[in-house]
Amino acid sequence: MSMFRRSFIATCAGTALALSAGAVMAAGKEVKLGYALPQTSHYGAGANGWSQAIEKSLGGKFSFKQFPASALGGERELIEGLQLGTVEAAIVSTGALSNFVNEVGVVDIPFLFRDTAHARAVLDGKFGQDLLAKFQQRGLVALAWGEQGFRHLTNNKHAVKSVADMKGLKIRVTENPVHITAFRTLGASPTPMSWPEVISALQQGTIDGQENPISVLASTKLWEVQKHLTLTAHVYAPVVFIMSPSFWGGLSDAEKAAFTQGAKSGAAASRAFVDAVEKKGVEEAKSHGMQVVDKVDQAAFRTALEPAYQQYAKKFGQKTLDTIANVK
Ligand code: PAF
Repeated sequence: MSMFRRSFIATCAGTALALSAGAVMAAGKEVKLGYALPQTSHYGAGANGWSQAIEKSLGGKFSFKQFPASALGGERELIEGLQLGTVEAAIVSTGALSNFVNEVGVVDIPFLFRDTAHARAVLDGKFGQDLLAKFQQRGLVALAWGEQGFRHLTNNKHAVKSVADMKGLKIRVTENPVHITAFRTLGASPTPMSWPEVISALQQGTIDGQENPISVLASTKLWEVQKHLTLTAHVYAPVVFIMSPSFWGGLSDAEKAAFTQGAKSGAAASRAFVDAVEKKGVEEAKSHGMQVVDKVDQAAFRTALEPAYQQYAKKFGQKTLDTIANVK
C-alpha cells in the first residue's frame, strides 16, 4: 500500500473515531422520560417540547430518552420509579397522583372548572403553583402543568344521554378516589384499573366503557374497541411534568432553571396539541363509526353528584373549592 493510501486510511479512521466520540459526548447525560401514550400523542408533543428546550438551553449536556406507551409500566409504577430514582422524568395524568400527593385530588372533582381557560388560569396561577410545591414533601419534583383536555365517556352497551343511562355501566376509572366516588354516585359501577390493562379489558368485555379526553381517544384509536361516545366533559384532566429528586439534586441552579423552563415549554406544547385534536378528534371518531352524543344536561349531572360534592367539600375544604371557583 502506498504511503499516501496508508495515511489517507489512518486519517479517515481517526476522523471516524473522533466523530463517534463526539456523538457520544453530544448525546449527553441520559434522562429517561416515561409516559403512558404513544409518541404521536399530546404526551409525545410535551416530551418533544421539553427535550428540544433542554437541547437548546443546555447544548447537548443532557439527552432525553423517551419511553412512550407505558414502556416503563403504568402511571403508578412510573411515579414510584421517580421516587426511587430509577426514572429521571415523567409526564403523568392526575389519575394515580392523588395516592401520592393527596391534595392534588381536588383538581379531579367533576365540573370544578368552568372551561379550559379557567383550568389553565387556576393551574398557572398561585393555587396551581402552590400545589406543585407540595410534591416535594412526597419525594417528587413537579415542574409544570400540561393538559389532556376534558374527559368524556365511551362504552359498548348503549348511548348515554342522561344520568339514568349510567346505571349499572361497568366503567373503568383511574385509580383515583375522587373519580371512583363520582361514578359510584352517578349510579355506574366504577372499576379502577391501570391504563395498560384497559384496551384488552374493553376487548374482552370485562368492562363496558372508560372515560378519557378526545386526545386519548384519538391517539389510541379507541373507536376500535368502543361503540358509543358521550361528550360529558365531566372533568378536566391536567398532566404534570415531574422529575426524580435524586436526579434533581445533582443539577446546578442554572440547570434546574433550564429543566423548569423546558417543562413549561413542553406543557405549552401539550396544550397546543390538545387545542388542535379537540377540533378534529370527534369527527374522526364519527368517521370510524362511533355513535356520538354531542351534549348532555350537565346541570342534571351536577345535581346527581350532590352527595359526592358534600364528601369533596369535607375532604378538601369548602374554602379551597371557593378559591378555585373565584379565579377569573
Ligand atoms: O385514563 C388514564 O389513566 C390516563 O388519562 C391516561 C390515558 C393513562 C393518560 O395519562
